[in-house]
Amino acid sequence: MEYRSIADVMNKDMIGAHVCIRGWIYRRSVVGGKAFIRVRDSSGVIQVVVDSGRLGEELVNELKNIGLEASVMACGTVREEPRAPGGYELEAESFKITGYSRDFPIKGGEGLEYLLDNRHLWIRSPRFAKILKVKHTVLEAGREYFTSNGWWEVNPPILTASACEGGATLFPVDYFGQKAYLSQSAQLYLEALIYVLEKVWSLTPSFRAERSRTRRHLAEYWHLEPEAAWYTMEDMMRVAEELVSHIVRRVLEERRGDLIDLGRNIERLKPAAEPPYPRIRYDEAVEILQKKGVNIKWGDDLGADEERILTMEFEKPFFVTHFPRQIKSFYMKVDPSNPNVVLGFDLLAPEGYGEIIGGGEREDNYDVLYQKIVEQGLNPDDYKWYLDLRRYGSVPHSGFGLGVERATMWIAGLDHIRDTLPFPRFRGRIYP
Ligand code: 4AD
Ligand code: MG
Repeated sequence: MEYRSIADVMNKDMIGAHVCIRGWIYRRSVVGGKAFIRVRDSSGVIQVVVDSGRLGEELVNELKNIGLEASVMACGTVREEPRAPGGYELEAESFKITGYSRDFPIKGGEGLEYLLDNRHLWIRSPRFAKILKVKHTVLEAGREYFTSNGWWEVNPPILTASACEGGATLFPVDYFGQKAYLSQSAQLYLEALIYVLEKVWSLTPSFRAERSRTRRHLAEYWHLEPEAAWYTMEDMMRVAEELVSHIVRRVLEERRGDLIDLGRNIERLKPAAEPPYPRIRYDEAVEILQKKGVNIKWGDDLGADEERILTMEFEKPFFVTHFPRQIKSFYMKVDPSNPNVVLGFDLLAPEGYGEIIGGGEREDNYDVLYQKIVEQGLNPDDYKWYLDLRRYGSVPHSGFGLGVERATMWIAGLDHIRDTLPFPRFRGRIYP
């Protein structure tokens, strides 16, 4: 007989059907001569009833002490059973243990560090399955958006010779005796590629040697970055709101049940499915914060706390634009109408989440860019190739980077970024 997924079996039309399922033991109890084995697979959990009268006392005795997470295969008849989780159960006609599991290390109630040491096993919990599925749909919808709007997917390098986002968070690596770094962003390479394909995007790992452990910083994360020739900052902000609203719409359509199981307040997510998103300038952000009694002055960067306070003003994701030039990277284009600010934007997610996107228009003038590289204490020799892009047919262009884990954390309503990756990397954690 064919094996079915557990979710497929738990369905009114399946009542009375003979089916086979397979998976791992999630919970078990033995009452009288019957074993009640809850089996999970990627799709759900079903109760399998093993009756000693039918399958023998020996099996039921063995199941009394069977370890959690043992793998099993069962065939039987589907029944409606309001007392079973999900309302259905499988009356087993055959039941086979495929792989034993002795003393599974996670029993419930363990502390965080212990669980992280056992991450390779902890991820089996149904909660992770739901988060991983939400992230799958975030990625699928992102690719769908770019592919259906004429953007080319490209593969920039991960090993690089120079910084994109400042020296403080670079991870050095030994590259055949030469010093190199893990990429912080594909941006500079994507800028070279717009001269070939005009509208490009990439999905790559990005690395940041973040010194502190926070709810929203990882040392390794997935970065979705578009870059386009001839695009202004405004054009790119439209791409950002179209992309994010498309992702939210797809997750609401396809992962609604998973979101509800994760405790996500769907109503609060819904406004994000509808572009446009509000826009405020950095100046206005500072004013709002000052009115709320935050100790901030023009020129200060917005940290997690400031962002959280700002998000309380909005139902939807919103843009903050025109930041002071000193707090943004060398590549940002200076606003022609105000040399103190740059044509950069961040997109902040509501409900306290804050920045999920950073981007803007790029400096396309050779001399100005050279000046800014020097101004920021960088060595122009390291950026010779990047400066070249302004020497041979320079064009106005813009781009941004979406942190996939930041977006997933917000969409799934998680309170920590850690669980958006099966094996998160942050300071103090490299095993498993
Ligand atoms: O704002 P960032 O540093 O911008 C850039 O890297 C640009 N070069 C991107 C571009 O224009 N192509 O990073 C972009 C996004 C942030 O908004 C955030 O979502 C995410 O990357 N991010 C992180 N996510 C998790 N952990 C970290 N340590 C992150 N640092 C940035
Ligand atoms: Mg940023």
